[in-house]
Amino acid sequence: MTTAPESLALLADEAASCTACGLAEGRTQVVFGTGAPDADVVFVGEAPGAREDEQGVPFVGRSGQLLDRLLAEELGVERSDVYIANVVKCRPPDNRDPRPDEIAACRPWLAHQLDLVDPAVIVTLGNFASRLLLDTATGITKLRGADYRYGNPPRHLVPTFHPAAALRGGAGVLADMRSDFGRARNLMMAS
Ligand code: URA
Repeated sequence: MTTAPESLALLADEAASCTACGLAEGRTQVVFGTGAPDADVVFVGEAPGAREDEQGVPFVGRSGQLLDRLLAEELGVERSDVYIANVVKCRPPDNRDPRPDEIAACRPWLAHQLDLVDPAVIVTLGNFASRLLLDTATGITKLRGADYRYGNPPRHLVPTFHPAAALRGGAGVLADMRSDFGRARNLMMAS
């Protein structure tokens, strides 16, 4: 029987040659996910940008620097202590939003990652991850500030803004993110 880390590595190998949608044509590489295979908390972003596509690692640009800061300041952890992935594993051209067909094609990879890591808490960063995993059309401004359940067995899901929104939106958005990260920390500690 394979362990979760081995299974996650096998899944990443399989994803590396995925051609389930048109994003395969423009990518440098698949940006599968990074971090601890047995993490208590998983962060789910939107899609890789240019830096991520180059390096093959999620959240290495400016949004990633803010994510790292919030992890340290609000959860007291480093990125290697958590698991980080995206809704869509390949960079959309010109950083456009991922399309519904691309999200649908990529969805099984994320579902499988969440099953294998089996975290107590999932934090969705922004509209795309929050809407997908909560199966809702409601936007992140309304969704955030509460915790939800995802999957079976049910896990906690804490929706918050995407770090890019905090970089654009300033102090209010950042304060809300800090509060959401604190909620995730408390849920992690209680589980
Ligand atoms: N934004 C995302 O949603 N994911 C990344 O990996 C980088 C930026």
